[in-house]
Amino acid sequence: MRVCIVGSGGREHALALALAKSADVVVTPGNPGMAGTSREGFTISVTDAAAEELDAGLVVIGPEQPLVDGLADRLRAAGRLVLGPGADGARLEGSKAFMKQVLAEAKVPTARFGVFDDAVEARAFLGELPGPWVVKTDGLAAGKGVLVTDSMAEAEADVESKLSGAAFGEAGRTVVVEEGLAGTECSLLALCDGRNVVPLPPARDFKRLADGDEGPNTGGMGAYSPVPAVGDRLVDQVLDQAVEPLVAALRRRGIDYRGVLYAGLMLTADGPRVLEYNVRFGDPEAQVVLPRVDDDLTGVLAEAAAGRLRTDPRPSTVASVCVVLASKGYPTSPRTGEVIDGVEKAGEVPGVDVLHAGTALDGRGHLVTAGGRVLGVRAVAADLDTARRRAYEATACIDWPGMTWRRDIAEAAVLEAGMGVSSASGGAP
Ligand code: AMP
Ligand code: GLY
Repeated sequence: MRVCIVGSGGREHALALALAKSADVVVTPGNPGMAGTSREGFTISVTDAAAEELDAGLVVIGPEQPLVDGLADRLRAAGRLVLGPGADGARLEGSKAFMKQVLAEAKVPTARFGVFDDAVEARAFLGELPGPWVVKTDGLAAGKGVLVTDSMAEAEADVESKLSGAAFGEAGRTVVVEEGLAGTECSLLALCDGRNVVPLPPARDFKRLADGDEGPNTGGMGAYSPVPAVGDRLVDQVLDQAVEPLVAALRRRGIDYRGVLYAGLMLTADGPRVLEYNVRFGDPEAQVVLPRVDDDLTGVLAEAAAGRLRTDPRPSTVASVCVVLASKGYPTSPRTGEVIDGVEKAGEVPGVDVLHAGTALDGRGHLVTAGGRVLGVRAVAADLDTARRRAYEATACIDWPGMTWRRDIAEAAVLEAGMGVSSASGGAP
């Protein structure tokens, strides 16, 4: 089969490598790191042609924006098999107010919230919450539209700058105000065929820019899987309480959701709470989740796209760690155009793939930085400790002026695993 992947980031690079174990892959628009031949002999190519123009047995749409814009609807109308929701389902991510409304309707456990386009009302609601306070743009903001703060003054100022349009334009003219929840975060991605869901292995993402979860929120600075603290029982609980009721609520609204449902969870003392739903694979979660799916991924995604999900993907016993290398100035104003050294050498470390995101070739054929998140160094190994060491060993081979990365990806998980919290196969309940 020929599979078309839409997107150009690290997530799409990881998808290309995983799908090219059993299909020829063409990525639009792709990036300079992707083209080549897979280890299994299937090809990966990139093209500027639009997905609508490509001949493919399955189209997998990576990013949220084209989903929100209705690309899946257009492709389905043209008779294509597509993994990714239509614009109706993608509204879950396109509007946080809509998402919270559906979660409330489906009785999915989530933070207390209110939706506002008026600053006076938003401030009054902030006053009812104990703090910390959370202010979110309703619309898409590339993972950067969320403020979590212990300062009421900061929360009030953020409401003003979002609602005025100053901070995020139209995306911020409605805000969701929430109670801040405490706990550890986890991402659970599930495949959905419109009716049935199967979970993919859990992952943990690192959203803050700097070590120790300091600094601003980003799209994600690294990830690992398995998550020692998240075992099969917790996954089942999340499916029962959060994913299946959501799919049922979508069906009641006439939405046939075929794609990835990504639950961003906070594991609180009172149990798991949904912070958000995304309508696609996480980035960088996909980078660590996909290599842990033992089944033929092309086949499983095609089943979900066709509304006939039969395979329950088995998590493999390997572990995976991904360290994101970002440009100086990310996430606000990344500096681009720097020449990147050492990618080939990094790829020689056993089990390592260097996944491209914001890269380009300059006029002389040099690989240069072209975005905020530039590369993801992913290692797959028998256990988290080895995967983590290899990811950082490979990271040490790569360099450009201003390269920024976290040193603590999966550090705590390796300690937990070492203390017997779990094995790589899924963890304690
Ligand atoms: P979201 O885009 O809604 O996932 O928010 C981005 C990040 O903000 C999450 O990964 C959390 O780290 C944080 N966050 C969002 N909502 C809350 C909340 N209610 N309580 C605490 N932290 C939150
Ligand atoms: N890693 C966070 C996201 O993909 O939204």
